[in-house]
Amino acid sequence: MAQLLRVQNFNISSDGIGAGEDQSLERPFGHVAPERLFAWAGATASWPMRTDPGGSRGLDDYFTRDYARNIGAEIMGRNKFGPQRGPWHDDEWRGWWGDEPPFHTPVFVLTHHERPSFTLSDTTFHFVGGDPATVLEQAREAAQGKDVRLGGGVTTIRQFLDADLVDTLHVAVSPVTLGSGLRLWDSPDELLDRFHMEVVPSPSGSVTHHLFWRK
Ligand SMILES: NC(=O)c1ccc[n+]([C@@H]2O[C@H](COP(=O)([O-])OP(=O)(O)OC[C@H]3O[C@@H](n4cnc5c(N)ncnc54)[C@H](OP(=O)(O)O)[C@@H]3O)[C@@H](O)[C@H]2O)c1
Repeated sequence: MAQLLRVQNFNISSDGIGAGEDQSLERPFGHVAPERLFAWAGATASWPMRTDPGGSRGLDDYFTRDYARNIGAEIMGRNKFGPQRGPWHDDEWRGWWGDEPPFHTPVFVLTHHERPSFTLSDTTFHFVGGDPATVLEQAREAAQGKDVRLGGGVTTIRQFLDADLVDTLHVAVSPVTLGSGLRLWDSPDELLDRFHMEVVPSPSGSVTHHLFWRK
């Protein structure tokens, strides 16, 4: 069976913004408070970063549960991994997620700056550069027959869309308007030349799921 490249649970505002500007150690999403985009996901029972029991079941939970299903590797941009820019001057930085990252697979961090791989629990981070097709090839090999998740941020997703390598997308649109930031799209219709789209408002009222699959 084909190994898909899947965007899972990517969160944007109703005006298409997936992160704020001016990211820093204190503000992983820049000027945007992450809960404005992630509230729906954080409320679910299967939210990967959940530390306490409980959480909702239903459609939103189906999507957070699906986050890991049949995923064997992730590709992410270095700005999702952390706030450093340029050469890696601080190798002590090992991502935002602590000693138990929620990936549980190899993760390929896109960067133009070399850094050795390291492992935290059952997640190994590799630092790679190159054109998207070459990086995807590496990730597919590591995924050992399973799919590859394209984890963001915005620049990374747009790059793989431009290279026409994405097979499916789940984009969760929250009912907030942010005005400025890193924009995934002006309108979801931009993808309709290549993808079918289904728009599914959640009964929770806190998100509208956008599902895309190839024509
Ligand atoms: N809304 C969501 O669901 C969601 C999900 C994930 C992340 N985020 C947020 O999105 C923001 C990050 O997004 P972003 O668009 O700024 O950046 P990004 O996509 O995470 O990373 C972009 C950087 O990755 C490196 N890179 C990308 N493609 C490359 C290639 N082919 N070869 C080598 N290096 C490559 C470059 O860094 P260098 O040249 O500097 O090495 C580039 O500047 C963060 O605030 C994060 O928290 C949001």
